Amino acid sequence: MADAAAFDHTTPREARYDQLEMQCAALLSDPDPVANQANFVALVNMAFGWHWLGFYRVLNGELVLGPFQGPVACTRLFKDKGVCAAAWSRNEAVVVQDVDAFPGHVVCSAESRSELVVPVRDSEGQVRAVFDVDSDAVGDFTQVDADRLQRLIDGVASRLIEESIPGHA
Ligand code: SME
Repeated sequence: MADAAAFDHTTPREARYDQLEMQCAALLSDPDPVANQANFVALVNMAFGWHWLGFYRVLNGELVLGPFQGPVACTRLFKDKGVCAAAWSRNEAVVVQDVDAFPGHVVCSAESRSELVVPVRDSEGQVRAVFDVDSDAVGDFTQVDADRLQRLIDGVASRLIEESIPGHA
């Protein structure tokens, strides 16, 4: 467990994504998806230290706040408004270089300047949650971040969600 803290912040992001991939599967071994979401968020935060990062879960047609690190955040997000909703409805990662330029962006923290949201899918490809990361710098995320985070999430998605939860759709 102590090894999980050993991220070298002077190494390029790609190397830290590699490290995350190696550590994630072993760390997320609990049968409880919330426990695993909590440790996933903490681990990614240790690797990158972004302004805010966390999960929103699809529950009864809304996105409901899950485990996160950073300032307090909006507890519920709704369809068709904001970056998280866009990733949910498009079922793909959404990179926003400047949140002020994204129509409908939902402001949870005034310090967030750029954002990346990645869908968490079940075995049928349905979006069951999204993983949202916010940076206090404009243009902090690229398609490489989107691809690497998506790969990381896809690799452990079955440990981050329950396959069958009433009301998830
Ligand atoms: N900005 C997000 C809302 C969530 S917070 O950033 C934590 C959005 O537009 O969906």
